Amino acid sequence: MDDLLNIAGRVALITGGARGIGAATAKLLALHGADIIILDLKRTDESDRTLRAVQQAGRRALLIEADVSQTEKVAQVCREAEKTMGPVDILVNNAGIARSNTMADITEADWDAVIDVNLKGVYNTCKALVPGMMERGYGRVVNLSSIAGRRGSLFGDVHYSSAKAGVIGFTKCLARIAGPRGVLCNAVAPGIVKTDILSAEHEAQSQANIPLGRTGRAEEIAAAILFLCSPMSSYITGMVMDVNGGSYM
Ligand SMILES: NC(=O)c1ccc[n+]([C@@H]2O[C@H](COP(=O)([O-])OP(=O)(O)OC[C@H]3O[C@@H](n4cnc5c(N)ncnc54)[C@H](O)[C@@H]3O)[C@@H](O)[C@H]2O)c1
Repeated sequence: MDDLLNIAGRVALITGGARGIGAATAKLLALHGADIIILDLKRTDESDRTLRAVQQAGRRALLIEADVSQTEKVAQVCREAEKTMGPVDILVNNAGIARSNTMADITEADWDAVIDVNLKGVYNTCKALVPGMMERGYGRVVNLSSIAGRRGSLFGDVHYSSAKAGVIGFTKCLARIAGPRGVLCNAVAPGIVKTDILSAEHEAQSQANIPLGRTGRAEEIAAAILFLCSPMSSYITGMVMDVNGGSYM
């Protein structure tokens, strides 16, 4: 194993790790030596499959059931998870939702749900886990933004674009706060990636704008996340890494 990608002995918590980009990340980080905590809404066949893959890589795996938008609940499950698995060194804020509606028909409930999961969720886990990282003098935080937060969504979903742009501001501010205490904080902004969150209609509408000429794979986003969790990125903080086949540059 390349030492610069070695994260053996680290404990990583991945929100929304049951499926999609989160599951690909859980498997890749496990293959490079990390024990994995998945925080997701509830146990499902998908989450069980991801946990099994982590265990098959020889690492410990734990599922904690919680909604990232619930501040008290997230604090409680993070405390419990750290008792079981040890202190969290790596936090990947990946849980996200999209609501496929445009400015004119976004309800207040849609707005709140999209902001609460995609943006407040990041605040909730960071509030629970980053102070401990800073005390110990080591940590890696990777937040999932989106091309929608960089250039504005092509689909009119202003709530999603706002949340994902907010994640970038959060990331840069936290990088300033936590950097002096050894905690690096970066964002990854995927383009169009083949997962459950992507509708066939949006996938088709996006193709003309992708220089690499295809939709991305979850594993290609996980690779960027691994890089930002590994010793290879030890002098990078406050960065947004675009992983989008050239759709936005
Ligand atoms: N797929 C894409 O095209 C794309 C593009 C840009 C950004 N992203 C971002 O990447 C991240 C991962 O998305 P994905 O494509 O893997 O989607 P996905 O729908 O396949 O996976 C999302 C995961 O988050 C979990 N989740 C949803 N709401 C939650 C909540 N309130 N609390 C805890 N867990 C919750 C789901 O159960 C699921 O496991 C999201 O933040 C998404 O916005 C995806």
